[in-house]
Amino acid sequence: MSIYGIKRAFSIEDLRIRARRRLPRGVFDLYDGGAEDELTLRENRAAFERIRLRPRVLRDVSHVETACSVLGARSAMPLLIGPTGAVGFGWPHGEVALARAAQQFGIPFVLSTSATSSIERIAQAVPGHRLWFQAYILKDNAFTLRLIERARQAGYEAVMITVDLPVGGKRERDLRNDFSVPFRWTPRNLAGFARKPAWALAQLWAGQPQLENLLGLEAPKTSTSGIVSSVGRNYDASFDWDALARIRDAWGGKLVVKGVVRDDDTERLVRLGCDAVVVSNHGGRQLDGGIATMDALPEVLSAAAGRLEVMVDGGVRRGVDIVRALAVGAQAVLVGRATLYGVCAAGLPGASRALEILSDELNRSMRLCGARNIAEITPDLLCQAPALR
Ligand SMILES: Cc1cc2nc3c(=O)[nH]c(=O)nc-3n(C[C@H](O)[C@H](O)[C@H](O)COP(=O)(O)O)c2cc1C
Repeated sequence: MSIYGIKRAFSIEDLRIRARRRLPRGVFDLYDGGAEDELTLRENRAAFERIRLRPRVLRDVSHVETACSVLGARSAMPLLIGPTGAVGFGWPHGEVALARAAQQFGIPFVLSTSATSSIERIAQAVPGHRLWFQAYILKDNAFTLRLIERARQAGYEAVMITVDLPVGGKRERDLRNDFSVPFRWTPRNLAGFARKPAWALAQLWAGQPQLENLLGLEAPKTSTSGIVSSVGRNYDASFDWDALARIRDAWGGKLVVKGVVRDDDTERLVRLGCDAVVVSNHGGRQLDGGIATMDALPEVLSAAAGRLEVMVDGGVRRGVDIVRALAVGAQAVLVGRATLYGVCAAGLPGASRALEILSDELNRSMRLCGARNIAEITPDLLCQAPALR
């Protein structure tokens, strides 16, 4: 797609439609889908939409400053690109494009363990930029610790441990599409790929993507890349609080825990010395029927009581969602699919366009709310105070 074409995408939904047009169904559904009935996936969005704002008027909003502090350092806006695995199946080394887009917009990028671009490849692509490494705890714990060490060597600023995936969610779109990696060359798949020539040519040109961080992992019943089609098979379901404390000690740097929705878990993370928590349900891809993240946010904030930073993800599709989350009390939000749609539609220009849309909408929403800077996004903007306990 030409640069001009991508500029004709005016919303994240426009980018989603373009991604759907470009990708074979199995790949699009891998990114777009959630678990089981996709109730939590829809609820994440609905919870944002339920929040109505009370804008202030007659304030001089000719200048708006979106810069803020995230994990103790400056970010150009309270937004991060969150970790998403297997981006290379949508766009060759799509994680490099995502990291570059994050760099362009001055926001941190979180690299997934299951990325198709290695820890080192990303560090080389965006030297000096703020990078965080998201670690899944593999059954081979020593392999996980080596990944964390590699992140340290490559200059990553923080490690994010995702804790809502002791087993993979039941993602029925993937099952119905018979989606697997490496691709199975069934007649149906071949026909599907042939209908998407731009995608197929890009994949042929670049070669089958690999989960580069996991190369060398002994995975008895599956190939390295087979992990994508069987999410969680290699993850350690016995991972617990003691094991998390060991990771904290081994890493020794800034620690973020992602996938928390409860006050008691938050309290334990505070005591563990964690620096930040991400209120997340994995974008509705794990426990279907789980609480929407914006509904869980007040409980986590109240337990955190300012002792660690609280971020939130799940369903962020508009800049005004960032205002909503911050008005409730979050420090920042993460996006998963928003930038994924962009990168799948058009590579780096698509990823950048997603951030441009969110940044423009954030800026505009702040002005419309009479908030001149991030500190002025306060709870009085909400129609109803969140139900803090
Ligand atoms: C295709 C896809 C892959 C993901 N892979 C990971 C991952 O490897 N690690 C992780 O912690 N979260 C992963 N997530 C969850 C995201 O980090 C994030 O929590 C979620 O996408 C937020 O919801 P949103 O997509 O509505 O923004 C993934 C999400 C998607 C959509």
